[in-house]
Formats: sequence, structure tokens, C-alpha cells
Amino acid sequence: MTDKYYTLAEGCPFASASTSVQVRRGQGVGGLGLLQDTQLIETLAHFSRERIPERVVHAKAVGAYGEFEATADCSDITSASFLSKAGKKSPVLLRVSTVGPESGSADTARDVHGWAMKIYTDEGNQDWVFNNTPIFFIRDPIKFPSVNRSHKRNPQTHLPDANMFWDFHVGNPEGIHQLLHLFSDRGTPASVRTMNAYSGHTYKFTKEDGSFKYIKIHIKATAGVKNFTREEATRIAGQNPDFLIQDMFEAIEKGDYPTWNVYVQVMDPSEAERYRWNIFDMTKVWPHKDFPLRQIGKLTLNRNPRNYFADIEQAAFSPSTMVPGFAPSADPILQARLFAYPDAARYRLGVNYQQLPTNAAKVPVYCPFQRDGFMRFDDNYGADPNYVGSSLKPTKFYPEVKSVQPKALSLLTEHEKWVGEVSSYESHVTDEDFVQPAALWEVIGREAGHQDRLIGNLAAHLKGVTSTKLRSEVYALFARVNKDLGSRLQQATEALVAGH
Ligand code: HEM
Repeated sequence: MTDKYYTLAEGCPFASASTSVQVRRGQGVGGLGLLQDTQLIETLAHFSRERIPERVVHAKAVGAYGEFEATADCSDITSASFLSKAGKKSPVLLRVSTVGPESGSADTARDVHGWAMKIYTDEGNQDWVFNNTPIFFIRDPIKFPSVNRSHKRNPQTHLPDANMFWDFHVGNPEGIHQLLHLFSDRGTPASVRTMNAYSGHTYKFTKEDGSFKYIKIHIKATAGVKNFTREEATRIAGQNPDFLIQDMFEAIEKGDYPTWNVYVQVMDPSEAERYRWNIFDMTKVWPHKDFPLRQIGKLTLNRNPRNYFADIEQAAFSPSTMVPGFAPSADPILQARLFAYPDAARYRLGVNYQQLPTNAAKVPVYCPFQRDGFMRFDDNYGADPNYVGSSLKPTKFYPEVKSVQPKALSLLTEHEKWVGEVSSYESHVTDEDFVQPAALWEVIGREAGHQDRLIGNLAAHLKGVTSTKLRSEVYALFARVNKDLGSRLQQATEALVAGH
């Protein structure tokens, strides 16, 4: 029983929420509706409009609140306040999703899993929009819609389509490293609580003097990584398509709070010049032996959403949401993402999406040159100037915050001097692109049965490919990683195709 009294949306008290007004003859069922029945009209009209556009990718998700605690003073590498001293805590919102399937789909489906995290710091919001894999399928952002469509539904049959999937990847083989991850055990996490996440991209930690380090972030489950086998994931998808959501909700509800340790790999710009791997190529990792992990924090989830729509569905994350001390690198995928997410949020939630409670910073926001628009629900900066450079009421700026000032530029290394031709970049795939996948195949081999499971997962998917030519091309692609992998994959797949 709630202690609140029912009203219409405009606040007017009303006697009943379960009877429409009708012109009636006698006592039986039957009567004409009236345009004056505002309550009925509003109830139906609002229902027809209660969906907002589903995210075009990452639609199905679980979310929760918690806190990020810095475990060290990181002021030697970043000026970010939330990392300035051990023990400093900032509230967090986390949303973990599958990528391709729709909002109603099974969350144990084999897929990359997204990790979108908003850290409400004392210098505004810091979003980490990561995945549970440290690499990505592509290195040119123009391919993003294509890779996703090839993983989603066929435009004619409206069915997931193995032909489309593998046709894309054979034609764009730079994704081989990510494919190995996806079809390994890690493609089907047993719980969000036992999943790791990675920035994938190179980002920058910056300091007020303009110096910077390249970094990659790793978030590791303290409970260790646990995954389902293909058979388990498929069975659970049928029995409980919301398994991951339920698992996390119930764990938090009973006080079994999931935790992660957060690390960075740190690279000096001078090292980037000489490094074997292009640090702006998202199909590559920095091996830990070259760049060891340094712990910067700890993450705990300890509060479930009060309302899924308000807290999680309306959440908008973007790699462009950054505090001073954190900056993007020249990874072209990241550069494109800096545009794509706020653009998606303006479409999905409206131009004032930053005002929604779940997205709002927990520090005062004063951005008077961004005004008006649909669904503005604060005082819209009242009478303050809506133009820059007012001498009548000058805008105040935080003195300690510097953007890219000339002083900072003078500290840039060769690696960040962008002078060159304007041209398009053809991403040729060479043997070098198969070196890290080959190493990953070896690592997978250290765990009993994992190589067999990976081959089984691939074969189960590949058997849906109806073109023998395309299947052969896929075997050839995996044989470039490792000959044995290629031939075992061929054997396993052809046996399934033949119905053995
Ligand atoms: C060119 C490359 C990419 C583009 C254009 C792109 C674009 C998008 C778009 C449009 C959304 C939906 C956003 C919304 O409706 O609010 C999204 C969601 C997401 N993307 Fe990407 N993406 C790219 C690559 C990546 C990469 C490399 C990662 C991880 C390292 C990633 C992680 C995520 C996550 C976690 C979400 C879900 C965000 C949420 O929970 O609201 N994406 N992406």
C-alpha cells in the first residue's frame, strides 16, 4: 500500500484509475466513449508512446550502481581528481550488455559484452565505454555499421545469418584476433560478476603541465573469470533468457556485492614511436610483459536500480565524456566514437539527455551556451547571458583547468604531431596481423580442452554457412593463425555439415 494519493498527470485528484467514462443504456456492458474522458485518452496515448528507440547496438543489458575507489595516488601520471589519492571514492553506474541481439534476446548468447560505466567524479562525469575483450573487429570506423549488420539479421529473412557473418569476416580479416576471443569460452560469460573489461583503445592520462602518457585500462573481476560452455549457454538461453540480469540483481539484493580491480598499462609517448605494434590499431594488445599492469582502483557494485527505465534505459554513455586528466588518443575508431555516442543519445533520448537524473553530473553544471531544446527541465540559466564574452556578466572559468594550451603543445612528441596528407587509409591485412592471434591460440591451449571447445564453438556456427567456398575461406583464415587450428576446424565443421 503506497501512502501517495492518485492524481492525473497534471496533479488533479481523480476517483478511479480503472473505469473509463461511457454513454450507457442500462446496466450491461456496452457504451460509447467520450472525447472528454481525458483520463482514458491520456492513458492510451501514453502507453502507445512508452517505448523509446532501442539502442541500435547493445540493446540488452543489466545495470547497477556502486562506487569506484582509487587505490593509489596517480598524480604522477594524471591530474584526474578521482585518481588523486588512495581511498577517494566516486559513485558509479554500470551497464553491461550484449551487442547484436535485441532488448528481448537471451543474454547468454555468444557475443562481445559491452561495459558502460559512468563515474560521477568531483570534476564531472567520466565514462568508460569498454568491452569484455581487449581488441576489436575493425580498425576503420566506417566499417562499424557493416560489422554489426553482418552479425544481426538478414535484410530479407529477418534471421541471423552465418553466411553474412563469415562473408564479412573473410572480406575484413583484421577482425581475426577478436573472432578468437568471441568463439573462446569468453564469448559466453557465466555472470557479469565474473567478467573482465578492457578499454581496448589507447587513451591518454594528461597532467596540467601538458605532459601525458598513453594508457590502456583493464578491469578484472576479483572472483576470477567464469564462463559457460556453448551447451550450458544454449540451455540457459532457453530456460531463462534473462539469466545475467537476474544473477546480478539477486546477488546485489542479498548483499553479495561484486568487485573488480582496475589497472592501467602505461606507455611513454617516446616508447610508442619504437613499439612493434601501432598503438592506435585496436586489433592489437600491449602484452603485459612489455607494459605491466599498475593498479589504480577498485570497483564495487552495491545498489540495484530503483527503476530500470529511468536508471538504465535512459542512461547515455560516451567515450567523449571525460574529466580533466583523461584524453582520447588518435585511434580512428575512438575518434569516430567520440561523435557517435552523443549523436545516438540526442536521437534516442533527446537533446537535453545530460539533464536526465541518471546522466546528470553530481557537481554543479553551468553550461549556459547550451540552452533550450525539447524537454528542458531546469531553469535554463534564467537571465544569464546566452552568448560568450559578456562584460555585463562575465563567465567564470576554473583557473586550474587547462585544455590543450601552447605550453602543452610544446611538450608533444613526434608521436602526436599531426602533419600530413589528407587521404583515405586502406587497412591492408598482413602476416603481422596474425602474430597476436597465434599467441592467443597458444594461451588458450594452456587450459585443458579450451582449444577443442573453441573449435566446437566455431564449427557449430560455421555449419550454418551454406556456401562450401565461403566455408573453405574461413578455414584458410584460421589456418593463417595456426595450421592445426585451420585443419581441425575444417574437420569438425565438415563432420557437422555431413550430419555426423
Ligand atoms: C566505430 C566504432 C563504434 C561505433 C560507431 C559505435 C557506436 C555505438 C552506438 C551508436 C551505440 C549505441 C549508443 C546509444 O544508443 O546510447 C553504442 C553502444 C555501445 N558501444 Fe559502441 N561503437 C563503436 C565501437 C565500440 C567499441 C570499440 C567499444 C568497446 C571498446 C564499444 C562499446 C560500446 C558499449 C559498451 C555500448 C553500450 C553503451 C550503453 O550501455 O549505453 N563500442 N556504440
